[in-house]
Amino acid sequence: MTRRETDHVTSEVIKQQNEIIERIRQNNENEYQKTGRMKYYRVITYGCQQNNSDSEKLKGMLRLMGYNQTENNEEADVILFNTCCVRENAEMKLYGNIGALKGLKKKKPDLIIGVCGCMMQQKHAVDMIKEKYSHVDLIFGTHNIYKFPEIFEKALHEKYTLIDILDTDGFIVENIPVERDEKHKAWVTIMYGCNNFCSYCIVPYVRGRERSRNPEDIIEEIRSLSQDGCKEVMLLGQNVNSYGKDLKIGFDFADLLYKINSIDGIERIRFMTSHPKDLSDKLIKAMCECSKVCEHLHLPFQAGSNKILKLMNRKYTKEEYLEKVNKIKEAIPGIALTTDIIVGFPGETTEDFEETLDVVRKVRFDQAFTFIYSKREGTAAAKMMDVISEEEKRNNFNRLVEVQNQISREINESYKDNIYEVLVDGPSKTNKNMLTGRTRTGKVVNFKGEAKIGELVNVKINEVHSFSLNGEIVINNQS
Ligand code: SAH
Ligand code: SF4
Ligand code: F3S
Repeated sequence: MTRRETDHVTSEVIKQQNEIIERIRQNNENEYQKTGRMKYYRVITYGCQQNNSDSEKLKGMLRLMGYNQTENNEEADVILFNTCCVRENAEMKLYGNIGALKGLKKKKPDLIIGVCGCMMQQKHAVDMIKEKYSHVDLIFGTHNIYKFPEIFEKALHEKYTLIDILDTDGFIVENIPVERDEKHKAWVTIMYGCNNFCSYCIVPYVRGRERSRNPEDIIEEIRSLSQDGCKEVMLLGQNVNSYGKDLKIGFDFADLLYKINSIDGIERIRFMTSHPKDLSDKLIKAMCECSKVCEHLHLPFQAGSNKILKLMNRKYTKEEYLEKVNKIKEAIPGIALTTDIIVGFPGETTEDFEETLDVVRKVRFDQAFTFIYSKREGTAAAKMMDVISEEEKRNNFNRLVEVQNQISREINESYKDNIYEVLVDGPSKTNKNMLTGRTRTGKVVNFKGEAKIGELVNVKINEVHSFSLNGEIVINNQS
Protein backbone atom coordinates (compact mmCIF):
# COMPACT_ATOMS: atom_id res chain seq x y z
CA MET A 1 0.00 0.00 0.00
CA THR A 2 1.41 3.39 -0.99
CA ARG A 3 0.32 6.55 0.62
CA ARG A 4 1.93 9.87 0.95
CA GLU A 5 4.41 9.87 3.80
CA THR A 6 3.80 13.37 5.04
CA ASP A 7 3.53 13.00 8.80
CA HIS A 8 7.21 13.02 9.63
CA VAL A 9 8.17 15.82 7.22
CA THR A 10 5.14 17.79 8.25
CA SER A 11 5.72 17.87 11.97
CA GLU A 12 9.48 18.54 11.60
CA VAL A 13 9.08 21.34 9.11
CA ILE A 14 6.08 22.92 10.74
CA LYS A 15 7.82 22.89 14.13
CA GLN A 16 10.78 24.79 12.69
CA GLN A 17 8.56 27.27 10.89
CA ASN A 18 6.45 27.82 14.00
CA GLU A 19 9.58 28.69 15.97
CA ILE A 20 10.42 31.34 13.39
CA ILE A 21 6.86 32.67 13.44
CA GLU A 22 7.09 33.01 17.22
CA ARG A 23 10.44 34.83 16.95
CA ILE A 24 9.01 37.36 14.50
CA ARG A 25 5.88 37.78 16.64
CA GLN A 26 8.04 38.54 19.69
CA ASN A 27 9.98 41.18 17.74
CA ASN A 28 6.79 42.80 16.51
CA GLU A 29 5.36 42.71 20.03
CA ASN A 30 8.51 44.37 21.44
CA GLU A 31 8.36 47.07 18.80
CA TYR A 32 4.71 47.65 19.55
CA GLN A 33 5.56 48.12 23.23
CA LYS A 34 8.08 50.79 22.21
CA THR A 35 6.25 52.60 19.42
CA GLY A 36 2.57 51.81 20.01
CA ARG A 37 2.19 51.12 16.29
CA MET A 38 0.64 47.88 15.00
CA LYS A 39 2.00 46.19 11.89
CA TYR A 40 0.02 45.40 8.75
CA TYR A 41 0.19 43.08 5.73
CA ARG A 42 -1.52 43.10 2.36
CA VAL A 43 -1.71 40.02 0.14
CA ILE A 44 -2.79 40.65 -3.45
CA THR A 45 -3.92 37.49 -5.24
CA TYR A 46 -4.20 36.88 -8.97
CA GLY A 47 -5.46 33.79 -10.79
CA CYS A 48 -7.48 30.78 -9.72
CA GLN A 49 -8.81 29.33 -6.45
CA GLN A 50 -5.57 27.43 -6.07
CA ASN A 51 -3.76 30.72 -5.60
CA ASN A 52 -6.49 32.03 -3.32
CA SER A 53 -6.09 28.97 -1.18
CA ASP A 54 -2.30 29.50 -1.02
CA SER A 55 -2.87 33.14 -0.09
CA GLU A 56 -5.03 32.03 2.83
CA LYS A 57 -2.00 30.12 4.12
CA LEU A 58 0.33 33.11 3.69
CA LYS A 59 -2.21 35.28 5.52
CA GLY A 60 -2.49 32.68 8.29
CA MET A 61 1.26 32.72 8.85
CA LEU A 62 1.48 36.53 8.72
CA ARG A 63 -1.32 36.86 11.24
CA LEU A 64 0.48 34.56 13.68
CA MET A 65 3.58 36.73 13.21
CA GLY A 66 1.54 39.63 14.58
CA TYR A 67 0.58 41.41 11.37
CA ASN A 68 -2.98 42.66 10.76
CA GLN A 69 -4.65 42.65 7.38
CA THR A 70 -5.04 45.88 5.42
CA GLU A 71 -6.14 46.72 1.88
CA ASN A 72 -4.17 49.95 1.95
CA ASN A 73 -0.60 49.96 0.53
CA GLU A 74 0.37 53.08 2.50
CA GLU A 75 -0.49 51.38 5.79
CA ALA A 76 1.22 48.06 4.97
CA ASP A 77 4.55 46.87 6.34
CA VAL A 78 4.47 43.80 4.09
CA ILE A 79 2.95 43.59 0.60
CA LEU A 80 2.85 40.19 -1.14
CA PHE A 81 1.81 39.58 -4.74
CA ASN A 82 0.65 36.00 -5.36
CA THR A 83 0.94 35.77 -9.13
CA CYS A 84 -0.70 33.94 -12.04
CA CYS A 85 0.73 33.35 -15.51
CA VAL A 86 -2.05 31.45 -17.25
CA ARG A 87 -2.54 34.31 -19.73
CA GLU A 88 -0.36 37.24 -20.73
CA ASN A 89 -2.65 39.96 -19.37
CA ALA A 90 -2.32 38.53 -15.84
CA GLU A 91 1.46 39.04 -16.10
CA MET A 92 1.22 42.57 -17.50
CA LYS A 93 -1.09 43.64 -14.70
CA LEU A 94 1.42 42.42 -12.13
CA TYR A 95 4.38 44.34 -13.57
CA GLY A 96 2.30 47.53 -13.56
CA ASN A 97 1.31 47.08 -9.92
CA ILE A 98 4.83 46.29 -8.70
CA GLY A 99 6.22 49.26 -10.62
CA ALA A 100 3.70 51.52 -8.89
CA LEU A 101 5.23 50.68 -5.48
CA LYS A 102 8.68 52.09 -6.28
CA GLY A 103 7.86 55.47 -4.76
CA LEU A 104 6.33 53.98 -1.62
CA LYS A 105 9.39 51.78 -1.04
CA LYS A 106 11.64 54.88 -1.27
CA LYS A 107 9.50 56.68 1.27
CA LYS A 108 9.31 53.63 3.51
CA PRO A 109 12.52 51.58 3.12
CA ASP A 110 11.44 49.06 5.78
CA LEU A 111 8.43 48.01 3.69
CA ILE A 112 8.85 44.39 2.55
CA ILE A 113 7.63 43.69 -0.98
CA GLY A 114 7.36 40.03 -1.97
CA VAL A 115 6.35 38.25 -5.16
CA CYS A 116 5.36 34.59 -5.18
CA GLY A 117 3.10 32.11 -6.98
CA CYS A 118 2.96 30.57 -10.43
CA MET A 119 4.71 33.28 -12.40
CA MET A 120 7.77 33.00 -10.17
CA GLN A 121 8.24 29.38 -11.23
CA GLN A 122 9.36 30.76 -14.60
CA LYS A 123 12.96 31.88 -14.94
CA HIS A 124 12.25 34.71 -17.38
CA ALA A 125 9.77 36.30 -14.95
CA VAL A 126 12.20 36.09 -12.00
CA ASP A 127 14.95 37.62 -14.19
CA MET A 128 12.64 40.44 -15.21
CA ILE A 129 11.88 41.31 -11.57
CA LYS A 130 15.55 41.13 -10.60
CA GLU A 131 16.50 43.46 -13.45
CA LYS A 132 13.69 45.97 -13.56
CA TYR A 133 12.10 45.91 -10.12
CA SER A 134 15.00 45.90 -7.69
CA HIS A 135 12.74 47.33 -4.95
CA VAL A 136 11.28 43.79 -4.55
CA ASP A 137 12.69 42.19 -1.37
CA LEU A 138 11.77 38.54 -1.79
CA ILE A 139 10.73 36.08 -4.47
CA PHE A 140 9.49 32.54 -3.89
CA GLY A 141 7.49 29.98 -5.83
CA THR A 142 4.54 27.63 -5.50
CA HIS A 143 6.36 24.65 -3.99
CA ASN A 144 7.81 26.25 -0.87
CA ILE A 145 4.97 28.24 0.66
CA TYR A 146 5.32 26.15 3.82
CA LYS A 147 8.78 27.68 4.22
CA PHE A 148 7.46 31.23 4.04
CA PRO A 149 8.40 32.14 7.66
CA GLU A 150 12.01 31.11 7.03
CA ILE A 151 12.24 32.97 3.71
CA PHE A 152 10.49 36.02 5.16
CA GLU A 153 12.78 36.18 8.19
CA LYS A 154 15.84 36.13 5.94
CA ALA A 155 14.36 38.88 3.78
CA LEU A 156 13.81 41.05 6.88
CA HIS A 157 17.57 41.16 7.36
CA GLU A 158 18.73 41.08 3.72
CA LYS A 159 19.52 44.17 1.63
CA TYR A 160 19.24 42.47 -1.76
CA THR A 161 16.36 40.62 -3.38
CA LEU A 162 16.09 37.21 -1.74
CA ILE A 163 15.16 34.46 -4.15
CA ASP A 164 14.01 31.00 -3.03
CA ILE A 165 12.45 28.92 -5.79
CA LEU A 166 12.04 25.15 -5.52
CA ASP A 167 11.83 23.24 -8.80
CA THR A 168 10.82 19.90 -7.33
CA ASP A 169 7.28 19.28 -6.23
CA GLY A 170 7.81 16.11 -4.24
CA PHE A 171 5.79 16.36 -1.07
CA ILE A 172 2.78 17.88 0.59
CA VAL A 173 3.03 19.75 3.86
CA GLU A 174 -0.02 19.54 6.13
CA ASN A 175 -1.09 21.79 9.01
CA ILE A 176 0.10 25.14 7.69
CA PRO A 177 -1.79 27.91 9.55
CA VAL A 178 -4.69 29.28 7.49
CA GLU A 179 -6.51 32.62 7.66
CA ARG A 180 -9.78 31.96 5.84
CA ASP A 181 -11.67 34.88 4.35
CA GLU A 182 -15.05 33.35 5.26
CA LYS A 183 -16.25 31.03 8.00
CA HIS A 184 -19.33 29.46 6.41
CA LYS A 185 -17.58 28.44 3.17
CA ALA A 186 -14.11 27.02 2.66
CA TRP A 187 -11.80 26.06 -0.17
CA VAL A 188 -10.12 22.73 0.47
CA THR A 189 -7.30 21.72 -1.83
CA ILE A 190 -7.45 17.97 -2.34
CA MET A 191 -4.63 17.68 -4.83
CA TYR A 192 -1.83 19.75 -6.26
CA GLY A 193 -0.38 19.93 -9.78
CA CYS A 194 -1.50 18.58 -13.13
CA ASN A 195 -0.37 15.77 -15.45
CA ASN A 196 -2.41 16.65 -18.50
CA PHE A 197 -0.20 19.03 -20.45
CA CYS A 198 -2.94 20.57 -22.56
CA SER A 199 -0.77 22.12 -25.24
CA TYR A 200 -1.74 25.76 -24.50
CA CYS A 201 -1.40 25.56 -20.73
CA ILE A 202 1.44 26.66 -18.44
CA VAL A 203 -0.07 25.22 -15.24
CA PRO A 204 1.74 21.81 -15.30
CA TYR A 205 5.06 23.65 -15.65
CA VAL A 206 4.48 25.95 -12.68
CA ARG A 207 2.49 23.65 -10.39
CA GLY A 208 4.28 20.36 -11.02
CA ARG A 209 2.85 16.83 -11.24
CA GLU A 210 -0.36 15.58 -9.66
CA ARG A 211 -0.06 14.95 -5.93
CA SER A 212 -3.11 13.93 -3.91
CA ARG A 213 -3.47 14.63 -0.20
CA ASN A 214 -4.17 11.60 1.96
CA PRO A 215 -7.93 11.07 2.41
CA GLU A 216 -7.62 11.17 6.23
CA ASP A 217 -5.98 14.61 6.14
CA ILE A 218 -8.77 15.98 3.93
CA ILE A 219 -11.54 14.45 6.05
CA GLU A 220 -9.90 15.72 9.24
CA GLU A 221 -9.65 19.24 7.82
CA ILE A 222 -13.31 19.27 6.74
CA ARG A 223 -14.45 17.84 10.09
CA SER A 224 -12.65 20.60 11.91
CA LEU A 225 -14.04 23.22 9.48
CA SER A 226 -17.52 21.92 10.17
CA GLN A 227 -16.97 22.25 13.92
CA ASP A 228 -16.07 25.90 13.30
CA GLY A 229 -19.37 26.53 11.51
CA CYS A 230 -18.45 25.78 7.90
CA LYS A 231 -21.46 24.78 5.76
CA GLU A 232 -20.01 24.52 2.27
CA VAL A 233 -16.73 23.11 1.00
CA MET A 234 -15.25 23.65 -2.43
CA LEU A 235 -12.83 20.83 -3.23
CA LEU A 236 -9.98 22.12 -5.35
CA GLY A 237 -7.60 20.61 -7.85
CA GLN A 238 -6.67 21.22 -11.50
CA ASN A 239 -8.32 17.89 -12.33
CA VAL A 240 -10.15 16.55 -9.28
CA ASN A 241 -11.40 13.55 -11.26
CA SER A 242 -7.96 12.01 -11.12
CA TYR A 243 -7.72 12.42 -7.33
CA GLY A 244 -6.10 9.46 -5.61
CA LYS A 245 -4.48 7.84 -8.65
CA ASP A 246 -0.98 8.65 -7.38
CA LEU A 247 -1.73 7.33 -3.87
CA LYS A 248 -2.27 3.81 -5.22
CA ILE A 249 -4.58 2.81 -2.38
CA GLY A 250 -7.65 2.09 -4.51
CA PHE A 251 -9.44 5.21 -3.30
CA ASP A 252 -10.67 7.71 -5.89
CA PHE A 253 -12.56 11.00 -6.10
CA ALA A 254 -15.97 9.34 -5.97
CA ASP A 255 -14.94 7.51 -2.77
CA LEU A 256 -13.84 10.83 -1.30
CA LEU A 257 -17.23 12.40 -2.09
CA TYR A 258 -19.05 9.62 -0.18
CA LYS A 259 -16.78 10.17 2.84
CA ILE A 260 -17.24 13.94 2.88
CA ASN A 261 -20.98 13.54 2.37
CA SER A 262 -21.18 11.80 5.73
CA ILE A 263 -19.55 14.62 7.72
CA ASP A 264 -22.11 16.21 10.06
CA GLY A 265 -22.68 19.94 9.71
CA ILE A 266 -21.46 20.21 6.12
CA GLU A 267 -24.49 21.02 3.96
CA ARG A 268 -23.00 21.52 0.52
CA ILE A 269 -20.12 20.02 -1.42
CA ARG A 270 -18.75 21.59 -4.60
CA PHE A 271 -15.64 20.77 -6.61
CA MET A 272 -13.56 22.03 -9.47
CA THR A 273 -12.14 21.41 -12.01
CA SER A 274 -13.28 18.24 -13.75
CA HIS A 275 -11.53 17.10 -16.90
CA PRO A 276 -14.07 15.59 -19.33
CA LYS A 277 -11.79 12.64 -20.17
CA ASP A 278 -11.83 11.51 -16.53
CA LEU A 279 -15.53 12.01 -15.78
CA SER A 280 -16.47 8.43 -14.94
CA ASP A 281 -19.85 6.72 -14.51
CA LYS A 282 -18.80 6.03 -10.94
CA LEU A 283 -18.41 9.75 -10.31
CA ILE A 284 -21.81 10.55 -11.85
CA LYS A 285 -23.34 7.90 -9.59
CA ALA A 286 -21.62 9.41 -6.55
CA MET A 287 -22.90 12.86 -7.48
CA CYS A 288 -26.44 11.44 -7.60
CA GLU A 289 -26.16 9.47 -4.36
CA CYS A 290 -24.43 12.09 -2.22
CA SER A 291 -27.21 14.45 -1.18
CA LYS A 292 -24.80 17.23 -0.24
CA VAL A 293 -23.06 17.35 -3.63
CA CYS A 294 -24.54 20.38 -5.37
CA GLU A 295 -26.26 20.20 -8.76
CA HIS A 296 -23.47 22.01 -10.57
CA LEU A 297 -20.61 20.79 -12.71
CA HIS A 298 -17.81 22.89 -14.17
CA LEU A 299 -16.69 20.93 -17.22
CA PRO A 300 -14.35 22.88 -19.50
CA PHE A 301 -14.56 21.83 -23.15
CA GLN A 302 -12.17 24.51 -24.55
CA ALA A 303 -13.04 23.99 -28.24
CA GLY A 304 -15.62 22.23 -30.40
CA SER A 305 -13.56 21.17 -33.40
CA ASN A 306 -12.01 17.72 -33.15
CA LYS A 307 -8.97 18.95 -35.07
CA ILE A 308 -8.39 21.68 -32.46
CA LEU A 309 -9.14 19.38 -29.50
CA LYS A 310 -6.43 17.06 -30.80
CA LEU A 311 -3.95 19.91 -31.21
CA MET A 312 -4.85 21.00 -27.68
CA ASN A 313 -4.07 17.47 -26.39
CA ARG A 314 -7.45 17.31 -24.63
CA LYS A 315 -7.90 13.55 -25.23
CA TYR A 316 -11.65 13.62 -26.04
CA THR A 317 -13.73 14.42 -29.11
CA LYS A 318 -16.68 16.77 -29.45
CA GLU A 319 -18.97 13.74 -29.69
CA GLU A 320 -17.56 12.16 -26.51
CA TYR A 321 -17.97 15.44 -24.67
CA LEU A 322 -21.60 15.79 -25.76
CA GLU A 323 -22.29 12.19 -24.78
CA LYS A 324 -20.95 12.77 -21.25
CA VAL A 325 -23.01 15.92 -20.92
CA ASN A 326 -26.16 14.03 -21.94
CA LYS A 327 -25.40 11.33 -19.41
CA ILE A 328 -24.98 13.79 -16.60
CA LYS A 329 -28.09 15.78 -17.57
CA GLU A 330 -30.12 12.58 -17.55
CA ALA A 331 -28.71 11.46 -14.20
CA ILE A 332 -29.09 14.85 -12.48
CA PRO A 333 -32.06 16.78 -13.91
CA GLY A 334 -31.72 20.56 -13.57
CA ILE A 335 -27.95 20.38 -13.10
CA ALA A 336 -26.17 23.64 -13.90
CA LEU A 337 -23.27 23.26 -16.30
CA THR A 338 -20.47 25.77 -16.64
CA THR A 339 -17.41 25.63 -18.86
CA ASP A 340 -14.19 27.26 -20.08
CA ILE A 341 -13.67 28.02 -23.76
CA ILE A 342 -10.61 29.24 -25.65
CA VAL A 343 -11.07 31.17 -28.91
CA GLY A 344 -8.27 31.61 -31.44
CA PHE A 345 -6.08 28.61 -30.63
CA PRO A 346 -3.32 28.34 -33.32
CA GLY A 347 -4.77 26.64 -36.38
CA GLU A 348 -8.39 27.39 -35.45
CA THR A 349 -10.27 28.66 -38.51
CA THR A 350 -13.65 30.34 -38.29
CA GLU A 351 -15.10 27.08 -39.60
CA ASP A 352 -13.56 25.27 -36.59
CA PHE A 353 -14.94 27.97 -34.35
CA GLU A 354 -18.47 27.25 -35.63
CA GLU A 355 -18.10 23.83 -33.95
CA THR A 356 -17.47 25.61 -30.65
CA LEU A 357 -20.68 27.60 -31.13
CA ASP A 358 -22.46 24.34 -31.96
CA VAL A 359 -21.41 22.80 -28.60
CA VAL A 360 -22.51 25.95 -26.77
CA ARG A 361 -25.93 25.82 -28.45
CA LYS A 362 -26.35 22.06 -27.90
CA VAL A 363 -25.27 21.93 -24.25
CA ARG A 364 -26.80 25.24 -23.18
CA PHE A 365 -24.32 26.08 -20.41
CA ASP A 366 -25.46 28.20 -17.50
CA GLN A 367 -22.25 30.18 -17.82
CA ALA A 368 -19.05 30.06 -19.84
CA PHE A 369 -15.68 31.55 -19.00
CA THR A 370 -14.35 32.63 -22.38
CA PHE A 371 -10.74 33.43 -23.19
CA ILE A 372 -8.82 34.51 -26.26
CA TYR A 373 -5.82 32.22 -26.70
CA SER A 374 -2.68 33.62 -25.14
CA LYS A 375 0.70 32.23 -26.19
CA ARG A 376 2.70 30.84 -23.25
CA GLU A 377 6.43 30.31 -23.84
CA GLY A 378 7.51 26.75 -23.09
CA THR A 379 4.19 25.12 -23.96
CA ALA A 380 3.74 22.92 -27.05
CA ALA A 381 1.25 25.32 -28.66
CA ALA A 382 3.74 28.20 -28.52
CA LYS A 383 5.39 26.72 -31.62
CA MET A 384 2.12 26.42 -33.59
CA MET A 385 1.10 28.96 -36.22
CA ASP A 386 -1.98 31.21 -36.36
CA VAL A 387 -4.17 30.95 -39.44
CA ILE A 388 -6.60 33.82 -38.89
CA SER A 389 -6.12 37.47 -37.98
CA GLU A 390 -6.49 38.91 -34.48
CA GLU A 391 -9.52 40.82 -35.73
CA GLU A 392 -11.24 37.64 -36.91
CA LYS A 393 -10.50 36.00 -33.54
CA ARG A 394 -11.98 39.00 -31.76
CA ASN A 395 -15.10 38.81 -33.96
CA ASN A 396 -15.53 35.13 -33.19
CA PHE A 397 -15.01 35.81 -29.50
CA ASN A 398 -17.70 38.52 -29.51
CA ARG A 399 -20.13 36.22 -31.30
CA LEU A 400 -19.51 33.52 -28.70
CA VAL A 401 -20.11 35.89 -25.79
CA GLU A 402 -23.34 37.09 -27.37
CA VAL A 403 -24.69 33.57 -27.93
CA GLN A 404 -23.73 32.48 -24.41
CA ASN A 405 -25.20 35.56 -22.70
CA GLN A 406 -28.51 34.92 -24.42
CA ILE A 407 -28.51 31.28 -23.22
CA SER A 408 -27.53 32.28 -19.65
CA ARG A 409 -30.40 34.75 -19.60
CA GLU A 410 -32.89 32.16 -20.94
CA ILE A 411 -31.85 29.60 -18.32
CA ASN A 412 -32.13 32.21 -15.59
CA GLU A 413 -35.65 33.06 -16.85
CA SER A 414 -36.68 29.52 -15.97
CA TYR A 415 -35.88 30.29 -12.31
CA LYS A 416 -38.53 33.02 -12.15
CA ASP A 417 -41.38 32.48 -9.66
CA ASN A 418 -39.77 29.32 -8.27
CA ILE A 419 -38.34 28.79 -4.80
CA TYR A 420 -34.70 27.80 -4.23
CA GLU A 421 -32.51 27.01 -1.24
CA VAL A 422 -29.89 29.75 -0.83
CA LEU A 423 -26.81 29.73 1.41
CA VAL A 424 -26.51 33.26 2.80
CA ASP A 425 -23.16 34.96 2.06
CA GLY A 426 -23.97 38.32 3.68
CA PRO A 427 -25.10 41.80 2.61
CA SER A 428 -25.30 42.35 -1.14
CA LYS A 429 -22.48 44.49 -2.55
CA THR A 430 -24.69 46.05 -5.19
CA ASN A 431 -27.74 46.76 -3.06
CA LYS A 432 -27.20 47.56 0.60
CA ASN A 433 -30.77 46.67 1.57
CA MET A 434 -30.47 43.14 0.25
CA LEU A 435 -28.67 39.98 1.21
CA THR A 436 -26.75 37.81 -1.23
CA GLY A 437 -26.08 34.08 -1.53
CA ARG A 438 -26.05 31.18 -3.95
CA THR A 439 -28.41 28.42 -4.98
CA ARG A 440 -27.15 24.85 -5.03
CA THR A 441 -26.72 25.33 -8.79
CA GLY A 442 -24.33 28.18 -8.08
CA LYS A 443 -26.57 31.10 -9.14
CA VAL A 444 -25.97 34.39 -7.34
CA VAL A 445 -29.22 35.54 -5.70
CA ASN A 446 -29.75 39.01 -4.21
CA PHE A 447 -32.76 38.96 -1.95
CA LYS A 448 -34.85 40.75 0.63
CA GLY A 449 -35.42 39.38 4.13
CA GLU A 450 -33.50 38.75 7.29
CA ALA A 451 -31.00 35.94 7.78
CA LYS A 452 -27.55 35.32 9.18
CA ILE A 453 -24.42 34.53 7.16
CA GLY A 454 -24.15 30.76 6.73
CA GLU A 455 -27.89 30.16 7.10
CA LEU A 456 -29.87 28.19 4.51
CA VAL A 457 -33.03 30.04 3.47
CA ASN A 458 -35.72 29.55 0.85
CA VAL A 459 -35.93 32.36 -1.65
CA LYS A 460 -38.62 33.01 -4.24
CA ILE A 461 -37.15 34.45 -7.44
CA ASN A 462 -39.01 37.48 -8.79
CA GLU A 463 -36.54 39.11 -11.19
CA VAL A 464 -33.79 37.69 -13.41
CA HIS A 465 -30.65 39.06 -15.04
CA SER A 466 -27.97 37.36 -17.18
CA PHE A 467 -25.62 36.84 -14.25
CA SER A 468 -27.79 37.04 -11.13
CA LEU A 469 -31.30 36.61 -9.75
CA ASN A 470 -33.38 38.73 -7.38
CA GLY A 471 -35.86 37.41 -4.85
CA GLU A 472 -37.38 37.39 -1.42
CA ILE A 473 -37.14 34.97 1.53
CA VAL A 474 -40.33 32.92 1.82
CA ILE A 475 -39.81 30.32 4.51
CA ASN A 476 -36.83 30.05 6.79
CA ASN A 477 -35.37 26.52 6.76
CA GLN A 478 -33.67 26.75 10.12
CA SER A 479 -35.20 27.67 13.40
N1 SAH B 1 -7.33 22.81 -14.69
C1 SAH B 1 -8.40 23.59 -15.09
C2 SAH B 1 -8.14 25.08 -15.19
C3 SAH B 1 -6.96 25.55 -15.91
S1 SAH B 1 -6.73 27.26 -16.14
C4 SAH B 1 -8.94 22.97 -16.34
O1 SAH B 1 -8.39 22.07 -16.86
O2 SAH B 1 -9.98 23.41 -16.78
C5 SAH B 1 -8.36 27.87 -16.45
C6 SAH B 1 -8.70 28.11 -17.88
O3 SAH B 1 -7.83 29.04 -18.48
C7 SAH B 1 -8.60 26.88 -18.77
O4 SAH B 1 -9.68 26.04 -18.65
C8 SAH B 1 -8.51 27.51 -20.14
O5 SAH B 1 -9.79 27.72 -20.70
C9 SAH B 1 -7.85 28.86 -19.86
N2 SAH B 1 -6.48 28.88 -20.37
C10 SAH B 1 -5.44 28.14 -19.97
N3 SAH B 1 -4.35 28.44 -20.69
C11 SAH B 1 -4.72 29.39 -21.58
C12 SAH B 1 -4.03 30.11 -22.61
N4 SAH B 1 -2.76 29.88 -22.87
N5 SAH B 1 -4.74 31.03 -23.32
C13 SAH B 1 -6.04 31.26 -23.06
N6 SAH B 1 -6.73 30.61 -22.11
C14 SAH B 1 -6.08 29.68 -21.37
FE1 SF4 C 1 -4.00 23.19 -17.78
FE2 SF4 C 1 -5.12 21.14 -18.99
FE3 SF4 C 1 -4.02 20.80 -16.60
FE4 SF4 C 1 -6.24 22.20 -16.81
S1 SF4 C 1 -6.01 20.02 -17.28
S2 SF4 C 1 -4.43 22.76 -15.65
S3 SF4 C 1 -6.02 23.22 -18.78
S4 SF4 C 1 -2.94 21.30 -18.49
FE1 F3S D 1 -2.91 30.98 -12.69
FE2 F3S D 1 -1.42 29.33 -11.34
FE3 F3S D 1 -4.02 29.17 -11.15
S1 F3S D 1 -1.06 29.99 -13.42
S2 F3S D 1 -4.74 29.88 -13.13
S3 F3S D 1 -2.81 30.86 -10.50
S4 F3S D 1 -2.59 27.47 -11.10
